[in-house]
Amino acid sequence: MNVLVAGGAGYIGSVAVEELLKAGHNVVVYDNLSKGHRAAVHPDARFVEGNLADRECLLSALKGCDAVLHFAADSLVGESMKDPGKYFRNNIGNTLALLDAMREAGVCKIVFSSTAAVYGEPTRIPISEADPHLPTNPYGESKLIIERILRWYEKIHGFRYAVLRYFNAAGASQRCGEDHSPESHLIPIILQVALGKREKLDIFGNDYPTPDGTCVRDYVHVIDLASAHILALGALDRGSCTYNLGNGKGFSVGEVVDVARKVTGHAIPVVMSPRRSGDPAELVASSDAIRRDLGWQPQHAKLEDIVASAWEWHRHHPNGY
Ligand code: UFG
Repeated sequence: MNVLVAGGAGYIGSVAVEELLKAGHNVVVYDNLSKGHRAAVHPDARFVEGNLADRECLLSALKGCDAVLHFAADSLVGESMKDPGKYFRNNIGNTLALLDAMREAGVCKIVFSSTAAVYGEPTRIPISEADPHLPTNPYGESKLIIERILRWYEKIHGFRYAVLRYFNAAGASQRCGEDHSPESHLIPIILQVALGKREKLDIFGNDYPTPDGTCVRDYVHVIDLASAHILALGALDRGSCTYNLGNGKGFSVGEVVDVARKVTGHAIPVVMSPRRSGDPAELVASSDAIRRDLGWQPQHAKLEDIVASAWEWHRHHPNGY
């Protein structure tokens, strides 16, 4: 297929591009480089620098495409609690612009990056797709609203969508890794401490109702996330779908630090800090549905392997791309 990857210069998008190319697809990377990196764009992909709101540029990039993978979004829980308007404007507004350009170009297949944040504080662990959707932050709310919009575009305009709800993306491929500025994600921050670029890790809250009081998350390797997109793309002809993507095993912030100490051989000093607003205590996925329906099988499920791949990338890119 010819696939346009919106956000293909970003962390997860760039790895998905690698997997698409490996699977034999042709790729157009569409990215405004506001968060993404030119160096993350695969040399075998065609690159178009543009905003999703730029209708002409997007229509021209969509020419000849069969499907879209849509990664482009703001995605920080903490930031969304300070500036909700940015999340509703950028995530929802730009996705609408993309969907309408797709309609105009006659492209009606989309794989959409959603998030565990659509569930909010879960009612049970592991979380299944049909569990209540009550986001505790504007980021999760923005993604949930887009999921609902996709259902209407399916009903009314004949779109086919795959909604993939990522739990915590982590790890790196050989070429592509996590490089945000400023960095706010747990594993890259820990690795910056190990590289001597930060003095310590602030642990945001140790009074959660979890075994060691720190938040529990389901870390999933970015290559495994990417491979789920290839499967979802291939399944769109059979209908629309919504799946969780996680390993089904939760690790507390404290446990992640312990694993990183082993992997890096660094002491990684920590300091207990207040909770970060909008953080649910525990998010762990049931991914039974995508395993059953599409045969998704994570290849890098062990947290040690996930952290080791990120460490490898960070050691080779101590200053990012
Ligand atoms: N954390 C710290 N200190 C830090 C950074 C993070 O204690 O310096 C904690 C957070 O409070 C949280 C955990 O580490 O409990 C993981 O935090 P991240 O920022 O790495 O990831 P989040 O769980 O907040 O969010 C990520 C993605 C979201 C997605 C969510 C779904 O960034 O897009 O996973 O689980 F919605």
